[in-house]
Amino acid sequence: MALRSSKYGRVFDLLPEMIFIVDSDQKIVDHNVTAATETGYASVDLMHNSFEIILQPEQRRVLMSILKTDYGDQSLETKFIRADKSIMDVQVDLRRLYTAERFYSVLIAKDITEQKKKELDYLRYSNVIQHTVNPIQITDANGKMIYVGSPFHTELVISPIVDGSGHIVGFLGAHRDITEQKILEQQLVRSQKMESIGTLAAGIAHEVGNPLTSISSLVQVIQRTTADEFAKDKLELIKDQINRIARIIRDLVDFSRPSSYVIKPTDVNKVIREALNIVQYGKKVKDIAFTLELADDLQSLPVVPDQLAQVFINILMNAVDSLDGKPGSIWIQSRVTGEVVEVLVKDTGKGIAPDDREKIFEPFFTTKAVGKGTGLGLWVSYGIVQSFGGDIEVDSDLGRGSTFKIQLPINGKEQRS
Ligand SMILES: Nc1ncnc2c1ncn2[C@@H]1O[C@H](COP(=O)(O)OP(=O)(O)OP(=O)(O)O)[C@@H](O)[C@H]1O
Ligand SMILES: [Mg+2]
Repeated sequence: MALRSSKYGRVFDLLPEMIFIVDSDQKIVDHNVTAATETGYASVDLMHNSFEIILQPEQRRVLMSILKTDYGDQSLETKFIRADKSIMDVQVDLRRLYTAERFYSVLIAKDITEQKKKELDYLRYSNVIQHTVNPIQITDANGKMIYVGSPFHTELVISPIVDGSGHIVGFLGAHRDITEQKILEQQLVRSQKMESIGTLAAGIAHEVGNPLTSISSLVQVIQRTTADEFAKDKLELIKDQINRIARIIRDLVDFSRPSSYVIKPTDVNKVIREALNIVQYGKKVKDIAFTLELADDLQSLPVVPDQLAQVFINILMNAVDSLDGKPGSIWIQSRVTGEVVEVLVKDTGKGIAPDDREKIFEPFFTTKAVGKGTGLGLWVSYGIVQSFGGDIEVDSDLGRGSTFKIQLPINGKEQRS
């Protein structure tokens, strides 16, 4: 065995890897120049010596037994000890070489000390990242994201990641999660918007209501006095449209003057049952399975029963509409959570597109055909529930269904700070 004996033997010396040839007595029988320079041993110290002189003591047992026995090819990581006693991490590819009498092990070894150090740094770094309280985001130098948590609202501090030579290789973003704050802000904006819309609506209702009443009486007068059948017929259509406008106006007035009704202790379960009865009269409900799951320990709540019924009817009608006449189910639950009674109305209907979720509480927002919906139902319902100190939340999965959660404080609006 002599690496350099053949014509191209010197080629082995050109390789960046250390090469050792070891016989089955674990003696080094040959090596290339890289092996000597990397380990710092003179060739005379390596040749015909036991391979164990370059192995870190803890690593000896395993590797020496591999060299003694022919287990076939192996790839492993181990540690070499240099002549100056410093340690080097190495990646070893071990191949067997057979002659007629015996086998040799060819060890092709690569110094991976730097790489190991980087891996360790990375491990420490990723542990810090994964266990940090604040969400963290890492981007490469072009700002392309390479690591992030789930989506969230955030306040962001960005700092560059610099490599050894001062180049920016990426950016580290440390976030402060402000999702909670955002939700509160959105709620505030929503209730302020509702308030200003309410004032506007009251104004419109008043301004439109009076002339509408005169038009309505005039139509009735002409209907009674004319003999013209054509005119009578058309007047009937006008009356229908006036009624429609009047209904809208009533909704607007209801919204802006909810205090005109009397708040009294109310059995919420009873109101739910009444509302459901009304909704079940409709023609559209025959293929719908309704499930009621009412808490039996509900105490009375300070609300206006008729208005609360109106809320449940609106939300139940929407649930019915969401099924588009197809078979499906609607599930109504009441429960107490802390100081709040929650009523959940869950349907298996078409769901609400994410973009529409905030808009559904706005007046006149409707996805229904002209004449089918005015888009006032949820707006009015929201106003009513707010006047009781409560809230309405929506959760929806497009194509699968929606859940409306009506929250009513047990102690009513006044007691809530
Ligand atoms: N359960 C639901 N499933 C799917 N979409 C819904 C549901 N509830 C409400 N929506 C959406 O919200 C919109 C607004 O509802 P809202 O009750 O305010 O008005 P509307 O039902 O369209 O008309 P109306 O004034 O007759 O109630 C609906 O048009 C619909 O797009
Ligand atoms: Mg509706």
